[in-house]
Amino acid sequence: MKIVKTVAELSGQLASYRKENRKIGFVPTMGALHQGHLSLVKEAASQADVVVASVFVNPNQFNNADDLKRYPRDLSKDAAMLEAVKCELLFAPDVNEVYPEEDKRVFDFGSLETVMEGKYRPGHFNGVAQVVSRLFDMVKPDKAFFGLKDFQQLAVIQNLVQQLNLKVEIVPCAIIREDDGLAMSSRNALLTEEQRKNAPEIARTLFDSCNFVPELTIEALKKKVHDEINKSSELEVEYFEIVDGYTLQAVDNWTDSNYIVGCIAVFANKIRLIDNVTYKNKDHEY
Ligand code: PAJ
Repeated sequence: MKIVKTVAELSGQLASYRKENRKIGFVPTMGALHQGHLSLVKEAASQADVVVASVFVNPNQFNNADDLKRYPRDLSKDAAMLEAVKCELLFAPDVNEVYPEEDKRVFDFGSLETVMEGKYRPGHFNGVAQVVSRLFDMVKPDKAFFGLKDFQQLAVIQNLVQQLNLKVEIVPCAIIREDDGLAMSSRNALLTEEQRKNAPEIARTLFDSCNFVPELTIEALKKKVHDEINKSSELEVEYFEIVDGYTLQAVDNWTDSNYIVGCIAVFANKIRLIDNVTYKNKDHEY
């Protein structure tokens, strides 16, 4: 695997793939890689001829300076993990390389960004859109792979691709979990032993809540999930919303949409964890 740090080196390498007519699969990440990231790389390897990954902790998407400072970084470990799953090229730029000048663009994602992560992390998706549009411009991938773990991010990126009329195909990939159900996340490494013991309660409660659909009303189910997770002394729900999977707007009744997803953000002290569960989708009517 080649590691490049500049756009010039990246472009040179990409030109040689294009000459050989190889389709490029791209996996953007912020590093501190785990099996969730690697599953995207494996999916990319199965759907494209060459996999390019990026590791870049994007300051513009952090609305909390401490969160940015705390974010785990280990490039040599990341590189070894990527190489093992057939990534051919790793782009690991410095901040100045991605943002030679301040990015002042303001995107409009309408009601997609006024709820959930957008509401609780103001500016976050604008920063994500800035970096993803820049990375797409640098890599010009045929396909790009994103995890359903960040459900709202995926919707925002699909919208971005439409808005900018980009040629890239966005491929959603399943959530990868630890054996105890906890959704894999780079932030899991920051949990104390006690918090880590309690964290699987989030996924357990979400999975269990599926057994009460559609018998409980949406309102009652939301309360049940909130109460159950907050019972754990280490965990505090920030939001739990049951939304239409396309528009991300809250639904009041199980019959309001054919695609319904429950999205949650939970604090374990200062560490923020997100997860989601699909209650209903177009292929599965109860
Ligand atoms: P990061 O959190 O590093 O995640 C990179 C990609 O891995 C995202 O598409 C995310 O959804 C996916 N991912 C993370 N955990 C996963 C899991 N447990 N199962 C499946 N996929 C998982 O998301 C970002 O970085 C950034 O916002 C980025 C898109 C790179 C822009 O900076």
